[in-house]
Amino acid sequence: MNTVLPAIVLIFSLCHQAISIENKFPDDFLFGVASSAYQIEGGHDKRGETVLDHYQRLDPSIISDSSDAKIACDSYHKYHEDINLLEYLGVDFYRFSISWPRILPTGYSNKINPDGIRYYNNLIDGLISKNITPMVTIFHYDLPKPLQDLGGWFNPTTADLFEDYSKILFKNFGDRVKFWITLNANTWGYADPMFPPMLNLSGLGEYLCYKTILLAHAKAYHLYKKEFRDEQKGQVGLTIDGRWYHPATTSTNDIEAAERVREFLIGTLANPIFGEGDFPKVVKERVAELSHKENFLKSRLPQLSPEEVDFIKGSYDFLGLNSYTTYLIKDDRSKDNWDSFSESKDLGAKLYQDPEWPGSLSDWLKVVPWGLRGVLKWVKDKYNNPPVFITENGFSDSGELEDEGRIQYYKLHLEALLEAIHEDGVNVKGYAAWSLLDNFEWMVGYSEKFGLFHVDFSDPARPRTPKSSARWYKSFLTRRHLAAAAAKTEL
Ligand code: BGC
Repeated sequence: MNTVLPAIVLIFSLCHQAISIENKFPDDFLFGVASSAYQIEGGHDKRGETVLDHYQRLDPSIISDSSDAKIACDSYHKYHEDINLLEYLGVDFYRFSISWPRILPTGYSNKINPDGIRYYNNLIDGLISKNITPMVTIFHYDLPKPLQDLGGWFNPTTADLFEDYSKILFKNFGDRVKFWITLNANTWGYADPMFPPMLNLSGLGEYLCYKTILLAHAKAYHLYKKEFRDEQKGQVGLTIDGRWYHPATTSTNDIEAAERVREFLIGTLANPIFGEGDFPKVVKERVAELSHKENFLKSRLPQLSPEEVDFIKGSYDFLGLNSYTTYLIKDDRSKDNWDSFSESKDLGAKLYQDPEWPGSLSDWLKVVPWGLRGVLKWVKDKYNNPPVFITENGFSDSGELEDEGRIQYYKLHLEALLEAIHEDGVNVKGYAAWSLLDNFEWMVGYSEKFGLFHVDFSDPARPRTPKSSARWYKSFLTRRHLAAAAAKTEL
C-alpha cells in the first residue's frame, strides 16, 4: 500500500504534466483577431473609389443582398470602440488592413490624404496605448479604381505603384508598426466573374496576377529591408490562402493529384518566396504541356526571369496563412484534350467536400480541423519550417448571439494547432481569429457573419454586442491552454 500510493501519485502527476504541456501554447505565442478595412471601415466619402465600389454602384445586385460597404461597421468613426473591444478580449495583436484609396485616393503616390494618415495614426496609437500590437495588412482587396483602368493586377506597373504606397506606410507608421503583411494575396475577380473586376479569364488571369503579386510583395519587402528595417526593426510577410487539399482515396493518382493541386493553389505563391524559387516544377510542366496541346506558341504561365526569381526568393520574415476549410481531391484529367483552357483544367482534378462534414452558413466553409494541421505540416516540410502566423481562421453563421458553432470551430482548430506545434514541430508564432466584428462579407454582403461581436446594421449607431464566442475567446486568452483534447485531429 505504502509503495502503491506514491506510484499512483507519480503517474497522475506525469499524466497531468503531459496533458498540460500538450494543451498549452508556447509562452511567446501571440493571439489576436483580424479584420480588413473595406469590410469594416465605412467612411466611403473620405476615401477614393475602389474597384468593388465602382461595380456595385453600376449594379447593386452583384452583392447577393444588394447591400454595400459605404458605412459597414462604421469603424472609421468608431475605432475607439473597436479598441475597447480588443482590450476586453485581451488580445496580443490586432490584424487590420490599411485602405489604399484612403491614403492615396487615386491610387498614385502624388496625392496623399492627410485625414487618412491621421485616421491610422489614431488607430495605431490607440492600440499601442492599450498594449495591443498592430499587425498591418497593406492590401486586402480594395484596389483603387483608377489602377484597375490600367489593368489592375494584370499590369506589372501595379507592383511599382504598390511599392510607392508601401513606402508611404512605412514612412508614416513604421515607427510603431512592427508586423507588416504586404498582401492578403488572392486572384479573385481576375479569373472568376463573380467578383469585381468580373473577368472570366481563368487559365491566364490567375497566373498574370500571381506574377504581379509576387513582384509587388518582393518590391515592398526589399524596400523595407533597404530603407527601413535597421531603424524600425519590423518584420514583413505575405498572407496566402491556406485551404487544405486532401486525396479523396489512397490511390497513387489521387495522392499525386492532391499534391499537384497544392502546388497550383498554394505553391504558385509560396514556392517563389518560401521555397526553392520560381513557380513549382509541376505547375510549369503541366501548364506548358496543356498550352502546347491547345496550340499556344508558349506556355500560358508567364515566366519569371532569373533576376526576378532571385529577387523574389527568400523575401520574407514570416508566412501568413488564412485557414478556413478543406477539399477532397480526385484525379481527373479527362479534359486534357479539350481546346478550352482554365486553371481548373490545369489542376487535372475534381475538388469537392464531404457532405458529412459539419457546415457553416457559407456553402464553401465546412468544419475540418485536421485540414489546418495538414496545411501546416505541408508548409513546414516543403519550405523548411518558416515562421507562420495563422492570419485568419473563422466560422460563419447568421449572426446569433449564442454562437456555439463558432466556439466549437475555434476550439477544434486551436486543438489542431496545438498538435501541429507539439506533435509536428511546426513553427507557428501566432493566431488571429476572423473576425472582430460581423462585417461586409464581400459578394454576400451582410448575410454571412463571422464576428465575435454582433453589429446591428439597421441602427445608424452600429452598436456592437459581445457574442458567446467573444466571452469564450476572452476567457481562453486568460488561460491560453485548452482542456484535454476531445478528439485527436489525425490526418
Ligand atoms: C478573406 C476575408 C473574408 C474571409 C471569409 C478570407 O480569405 O481574407 O476578407 O472575409 O475569407 O470569406
